[in-house]
Amino acid sequence: MGKKQDKAFVCTDCGADFSRWLGQCSVCREWNTVKEVRLGKRTVGRAPGYSGKRSAVQLLSEVDRSRAERISTGIAEFDRVLGQGIVCGSVVLIGGAPGAGKSTLLLQALANGANAGIPVLYVSGEESPQQIAERAYRLGLPADNIKMLAETSVEEICAVLDQEKPQIVVIDSIQVVHTSGSESAPGSIAQVRESAAALTQYAKETNTSIFMVGHVTKDHSLAGPMTLSHIVDAQVVLSSTDDARYRILRADKNRFGSVGELGFFAMTDTGLREVKNPSAMFLSRSGTSSSGSVVTVIWEGTRPLLVEIQALVTESQSGNPRRLAVGMDQNRIAMLLAVLAKHGGMATASDEVYVNVVGGIRIYETSSDLAAVMGIVSSLRDRVIPHDSLYFGEIGLSGEIRPVANGEARLKEAAKHGFRRAVIPRANAPKQAVEGLEIIAVSSLVEALEVFVG
Ligand code: TYD
Ligand code: MG
Repeated sequence: MGKKQDKAFVCTDCGADFSRWLGQCSVCREWNTVKEVRLGKRTVGRAPGYSGKRSAVQLLSEVDRSRAERISTGIAEFDRVLGQGIVCGSVVLIGGAPGAGKSTLLLQALANGANAGIPVLYVSGEESPQQIAERAYRLGLPADNIKMLAETSVEEICAVLDQEKPQIVVIDSIQVVHTSGSESAPGSIAQVRESAAALTQYAKETNTSIFMVGHVTKDHSLAGPMTLSHIVDAQVVLSSTDDARYRILRADKNRFGSVGELGFFAMTDTGLREVKNPSAMFLSRSGTSSSGSVVTVIWEGTRPLLVEIQALVTESQSGNPRRLAVGMDQNRIAMLLAVLAKHGGMATASDEVYVNVVGGIRIYETSSDLAAVMGIVSSLRDRVIPHDSLYFGEIGLSGEIRPVANGEARLKEAAKHGFRRAVIPRANAPKQAVEGLEIIAVSSLVEALEVFVG
């Protein structure tokens, strides 16, 4: 190993690494956050008795596939995000702001595992055993088969794992553990990385499933732990909705399932409860509509989700009107405004345009284009969109309305929630009627605007 790899320069804020020192991180743009870290020797961080083993070459047909077995967390929404349960021997990083409910969720999952006769271990480096016992008591969880360990040394943790042989382990949190194999200060990014790498290696060699908790900082990046995404098998983030009543679990990376899958929970005084009907969470409309408000159906992972988009268009007092999108891609909104001006004949160049997705959810797909534009038009004309109407469809640069995936499932979800009218791409028009839903198929923005104006 060359000298070059002995040290690295890592941003303590976003975790990006560089080959040289920078005054300003070129990734997250923070100043004075790039620090030199010593990477230490490559042999570091291995649990005793697990170093230097050489892997044998195998035929794919000889590989024991039963290792990809999954264990249920006993929480359907959690299983869904993981990709139908916990894969044996997998390492999952679970991020979230302090108070999001990471410890609660994992304790609930461990309790379910323990109830099903699976040996589990909760390793806490942050909270005392008393605090965790108190939480378990408050949640009404059976405390007699959840084992716990207050420890922060990776070597000690691995020694206990060797002895106890749990099948599911929680490390709460990865930021406080350290390994003697790393020369860096405890808490530093290099320490977190080396510790995570050592635990991951342990998980793979013993087929133990490990959850590592990582705290996130501002802008939702996992500070420090973000640098772990290539080490772990899956990275999931638990976040709070705007009103703090709900929690959304999202997979950012998943070697064993699809990303973009969401799990929904409500934080109650008896812990996290699954939300079986998430569409209802995101509809703020209470029967009374106001202009600029419109509902669309997005596709989240493997299911449809109804969300409300709000738009506000006001005359600008400055020469450089603002365009702001929360929960949607700002550039996409700018593009849609250009299409609206060119093909819909509605210019907003001298207006401020704000678009917000209700409930703190983020839309990554283009199926919400039509709804966003209709919300903007509704606000611009100060004309209410009936509360039982909904829109979806992608808008192309020439003003055409393009089809989206899973059109029929989206329509069924809308009908299920009492919507009476859906304006959708012509190519998505279902062959069979959807009960209770009037379907208006359009092929251009002009047609959609005609429907709206009536
Ligand atoms: P916690 O799991 O400690 O969050 P994290 O580990 O992500 O920091 O959850 C903390 C919050 O959850 C705290 O604000 C209190 C709240 N909470 C409840 O509302 N009900 C409960 O049953 C529990 C255990 C916590
Ligand atoms: Mg916690």
